[in-house]
Amino acid sequence: MTKQRDGFASSLGAFTATVASAVGLGNIWKFPYLAGVNGGAAFVLTYLLAVALVGLPILVAEHAIGRKMRKDAVASYATVVPREGFWVLIGYAGVVAAFLIMAFYSDVAGWVFSYIVKSFMAAFRGTGPLSAQDFAALASGTWEPLIWQIGVVVFVSLIVAAGVSKGIEAATKLTMPILLALLLLCDIRALTLPGAFKGVTFLFAPDFSKLSGTVILSALGLAFFKLSLGMGTMTTYGSYMPESVRLVPNAGRVALADTLVSILAGLAIFPAVFAFGFEPASGPSLLFISIPAVFSKMPFGNFFTVLFFLLSALAATGAMISLIEVPVAWLSGKMKLPRPKAVIITALGIIVLGIPATLSLGPWKEVQLFKMGFFDLFDYIQQNLLLPLGGLAIAIVAGWRLRKSDFLNELAGQEKGKKWYLTLVYIFIKYISPALIVLVFLNGFGVFGK
Ligand code: TRP
Repeated sequence: MTKQRDGFASSLGAFTATVASAVGLGNIWKFPYLAGVNGGAAFVLTYLLAVALVGLPILVAEHAIGRKMRKDAVASYATVVPREGFWVLIGYAGVVAAFLIMAFYSDVAGWVFSYIVKSFMAAFRGTGPLSAQDFAALASGTWEPLIWQIGVVVFVSLIVAAGVSKGIEAATKLTMPILLALLLLCDIRALTLPGAFKGVTFLFAPDFSKLSGTVILSALGLAFFKLSLGMGTMTTYGSYMPESVRLVPNAGRVALADTLVSILAGLAIFPAVFAFGFEPASGPSLLFISIPAVFSKMPFGNFFTVLFFLLSALAATGAMISLIEVPVAWLSGKMKLPRPKAVIITALGIIVLGIPATLSLGPWKEVQLFKMGFFDLFDYIQQNLLLPLGGLAIAIVAGWRLRKSDFLNELAGQEKGKKWYLTLVYIFIKYISPALIVLVFLNGFGVFGK
C-alpha cells in the first residue's frame, strides 16, 4: 500500500509544528518547578548544557531517521537497521512513555483549564487573585481534578480523532506569539516588583554545591522532555519533513525558541516568588501560585490572568496532540485498528493511568511505590529512565548502526556543499551525546559514589 503520506508543506511549517510539540507545560510549569526544587541557577545552567550538547544532536538524529524512513516511529525503528529488528523497542518504549507522560500531563493541563474558569469567576466577582489555598484545594481534591483531567483527555482525543490537529497547530502560529508577548509583560511586571532581583540571582547566579548526580540527571531528563525527544515523537515529525528542510538549522532554531520561552517563564515566576515571599521549592504548584499574584499587581490583571491560562491551555493542547499521536499512530498503523478506535483505546488507557496519578496528590497520598506517589513515579520513570535511554538508543542507531554516508546524506538533504556543521553534529551524535548520557545516567544512580 503506497498511500500518499501527509506532511508539512514547507520549512516554516516544519518549524512551527515542531515548536508546537516542544512548547507546552514543560516550559511554563515543569522548568520553573524543577529549577525551584533543585536550587536554581546551577540546575538551569546544567539544563542549558544538556539542551545544547545532547538535546540538539538527538533532535537532529530523530528528524533524520524519521525523514529517511518516512514511517511512524514504531515502524521506523523496526526496520531502520536491516536485520536488527530489536531497535523496535525504542518505538514500544515510546508508546509506554507517551501513556506515562499523558497520565500526569493531563492532570496538570486540567489545572490549567480549570484556572481559565476560576480566574474568570474571580474577575467577575471581583475577589482577590487565586491563592495557594485555592490551588491546594483543587489539586488535592478528588472529583474536581478528575473531572477536569478526563475533560482534557476527551477534548484532545476529539481533536485527534476529527483529524483537525493540523488546524490546532496552525492556530498555534497565532497564539504562540501572543503567549510570548504575555510572558514578556509578566517579566516586566515581575522584574519591577520590590525585591525581585533575588529571583534573578536565584535563576542565574549558580551555586555549584547544589549540583548532585540526581540533579544533573533530572536536568538531562528535562532537556529530553522539553524537546519531545527519546520516544519517537520527533522521529514521526521528521517523517513529515520535506527534503528541503535543513535539519540542523531547523533543530537549532526550535531548541533556541523553546529555551527562550522557558527562560521567560522563569523570569516571570522567580522574581515574583521572592518578591511575594513564596517558597521557590513549592513544587508543581509554583506556576499556579505565582502567576495570579504577578498579574494581580497590574491594571486589568484579572483579564490578563484569564488570557494567560487560556494561551497556556492551547500550548498544552499542541503538546498533548503530539503525545497522543504516538500510540494512535502505532495502534492504527501496525495494529491496523480504525483510527477512531485507536483514539478511544488510547484515551481509555490514559484515563486509567491518569486517575491514580491525580489521586496520588490528594486522597491517595499514602499509596507509595519506591517512596513516590503515582504522579511522581510516572514522571520519574519517563523523565529519568525512558527518555534518556531512548535517546541513547537513538544515538547508537544513528551513529553506529547506520552507514555514515547514508546518515550524512539524509542529514544534508538538499543542502549543497559540505557544510561544516553536519560533521560537527555527527561527531556529537556518534560520540559526545551518548557518552554524556551514559555518564550522567551512571552518576545519577550513584555508580561513581556520592
Ligand atoms: N515537550 C512538551 C512540553 O514540554 C511535552 C511533550 C510533548 C513531550 N510531546 C512529547 C515530552 C514527547 C516528551 C516526549 O510540554
